[in-house]
Amino acid sequence: MRAVVLWCSGLLLSFLTVCVCLERDCVLGVVGRPVSLPCSLSPPPTLANVTIEWRRDEDVVLRSEWTQDGGQVDGWSVNGASIVTEAALTGNMSLQLDTVQPSEDTEYYGLFMVSGENHTSLCSVCLRAAASFSLPLLQREEAEQGDETAFLCHSSGGFPEPSVYWLINNTEEPPGGSVFTLAASLPDSPLYNVTSHLKVNISKDANVSCAIENPTMNQTLTSTSYGVKADTVIGRASQAMWIFSTALCVVVGVMVIVGVAYQINLDRVSKRKKKEYHQYMSRRPKRRPSCEEETKAMKPRSRETDV
Ligand SMILES: *[C@@H]1O[C@H](CO)[C@@H](O)[C@H](O)[C@H]1NC(C)=O
Ligand SMILES: *[C@@H]1O[C@H](CO)[C@@H](O)[C@H](O)[C@H]1NC(C)=O
Ligand SMILES: *[C@@H]1O[C@H](CO)[C@@H](O)[C@H](O)[C@H]1NC(C)=O
Ligand SMILES: *[C@@H]1O[C@H](CO)[C@@H](O)[C@H](O)[C@H]1NC(C)=O
Ligand SMILES: *[C@@H]1O[C@H](CO)[C@@H](O)[C@H](O)[C@H]1NC(C)=O
Ligand SMILES: *[C@@H]1O[C@H](CO)[C@@H](O)[C@H](O)[C@H]1NC(C)=O
Repeated sequence: MRAVVLWCSGLLLSFLTVCVCLERDCVLGVVGRPVSLPCSLSPPPTLANVTIEWRRDEDVVLRSEWTQDGGQVDGWSVNGASIVTEAALTGNMSLQLDTVQPSEDTEYYGLFMVSGENHTSLCSVCLRAAASFSLPLLQREEAEQGDETAFLCHSSGGFPEPSVYWLINNTEEPPGGSVFTLAASLPDSPLYNVTSHLKVNISKDANVSCAIENPTMNQTLTSTSYGVKADTVIGRASQAMWIFSTALCVVVGVMVIVGVAYQINLDRVSKRKKKEYHQYMSRRPKRRPSCEEETKAMKPRSRETDV
């Protein structure tokens, strides 16, 4: 029985020191944001009077000492680094960092158990800092003279410095010497703005793409400037024609309806007048009224010609 317990605890200890610490994949931290560096000790270290240290390379960033019942005795940290208070009980020793600091290189963080001079490594985690760039803004300036077209590609707020690629018609790389790229770090932050210029002799219908690649983020952002094609112009023109002709149809339709309604009304009035006229005619001689009608009809016409 005692042998089994011993064997078990020996197994657990070896687990503690070897197996748990194989987390070698890098954690991606976004610059300026908090991050958690995972480290889970299973089972939790129930040894009495444990002191643990989280280190970045050689520098201690957090130190904590526990009594046998898991209560914290003493501890301190730098730059707001922390671990959960019940870490000794749960074995969740993950290190929380308030803000990820920009660093071009991968940083290694290690958790150690300290007893006297001896340090036992419990966890090792690598951290890569990065930040997303904005979708690039691509501007095209047709040359006023000559064949050269200038392009400007701008993206902001990323980390680390990105690579900028240009493509003409999705396949061709621009000729050497036609690209000029400048990445500037922002004055009040570690992030970068990047601006790239391209000057090439291309036709007006060529498509030009600018890609901002941030390999740390595994992110490539692309913007494309589409060339002016003859058929797109026709397309736009025919669309305008469509709108115009539809509007024209509506206007003409309305006019026709109004005209017909007016005509119907006019017919009704003239019918009534005719009726009255016939009634009138049945009582009067024929010649005089027709003459009167003619002069009445003549009057507006003469007024029109005056105007
Ligand atoms: C733990 O530390 C306390 C005070 O520092 C001490 O009295 C106690 O004996 C220690 N326990 C063990 C198991 O070392
Ligand atoms: C450990 O604690 C951190 C912070 O509270 C949490 O984000 C993480 O999910 C925990 N990990 C485990 C395995 O419980
Ligand atoms: C440190 O470890 C060595 C061997 O690994 C051991 O002989 C020594 O007693 C340990 N010292 C302390 C203070 O635990
Ligand atoms: C960086 O880019 C942003 C967005 O385009 C702009 O507002 C800011 O002024 C730029 N900063 C520098 C230093 O170029
Ligand atoms: C672009 O074309 C003009 C005239 O066609 C020529 O003078 C100029 O050198 C060309 N530029 C490039 C970069 O090829
Ligand atoms: C990078 O992103 C692509 C697609 O977004 C994905 O297929 C690939 O697995 C990612 N690679 C890594 C290393 O995350």
